[in-house]
Amino acid sequence: MIKVSRKGIIIAGGTGTRLHPSTIATSKQLMPIYDKPMIFYPLSVLMEAGIREIMIITTPHEQISFKRLLGDGSKWGLNFTYGIQNTPRGIAEALIIAEDFLNGDHCVLILGDNFFYGETFSSGLETAMSLEEGATIFGYRVNNPSRYGVVDFDKSGQALSIEEKPLIPKSNYAVTGLYFYDENASKYAHMITPSERQELEISSLNQIYLSKGLLTVNILQSGITWLDTGTHKSLFEAAQFVNVLQSRQGIRICCPEVIAYRNNWITKSDLMAQAKELEKSGYGNYLMKVCHTT
Ligand code: G1P
Repeated sequence: MIKVSRKGIIIAGGTGTRLHPSTIATSKQLMPIYDKPMIFYPLSVLMEAGIREIMIITTPHEQISFKRLLGDGSKWGLNFTYGIQNTPRGIAEALIIAEDFLNGDHCVLILGDNFFYGETFSSGLETAMSLEEGATIFGYRVNNPSRYGVVDFDKSGQALSIEEKPLIPKSNYAVTGLYFYDENASKYAHMITPSERQELEISSLNQIYLSKGLLTVNILQSGITWLDTGTHKSLFEAAQFVNVLQSRQGIRICCPEVIAYRNNWITKSDLMAQAKELEKSGYGNYLMKVCHTT
């Protein structure tokens, strides 16, 4: 399969008001999901897709904390650039903020609070990575679609519309926070007008691709888990999910160090050095175990 070269964007802005008071002094995307910071999960998705050049967009005051956690990415064989979203003007603004960084390249945008897990997920990523023209988004069946962007289909499975948080949703398919775009995404993002809540909606950008006949909607099968983590309840459920999976299988999922090592982006001695730095935690012990068993 052809691989189109793409840059990654993680948007980790927002005020996290639904998680107050927990997010008054810290960013939502730095809160833990069980044993690691939330941002490790979307970062892992980009790394699994083979993406190494990534822009991380944060609020101005929280950038320093993200830099302290993630650095310039070199410890994981990655290259991070930091971008700032001054006010919460919507997800599609990420494509405008990242315009110079993208410099005409294709990209993958992922929301810093989205969690994906599943054996067959990587084949969906591979297909989306190979598409040279247009956009790919992922639909997921949920029982509360009104909270999300919603995509509906005709009888042949062709997408008909994308609506952001509709009061009366036309289907049960939510649009997840993972978007693959061709080189025109920033140009189209400039064409969007703000919604009633004064945001540049990502659904408006997807609607532009749809109206040009350039939107692929990939439905994630039920064996794949997609969770968003915007409330205390959903955050807690995501943590439970990670705990059950990891304890049962004796593995840890979404560790950037391990993915970097398996992708041959860092050596075993790099991994060992990072494991040593974290050796007082179960996370560090796990990294050490990976060093000794692979
Ligand atoms: C955003 C998008 C929405 C998407 C959702 C996925 O909503 O606007 O289209 O379905 O992420 O998590 P938010 O959760 O930021 O309100």
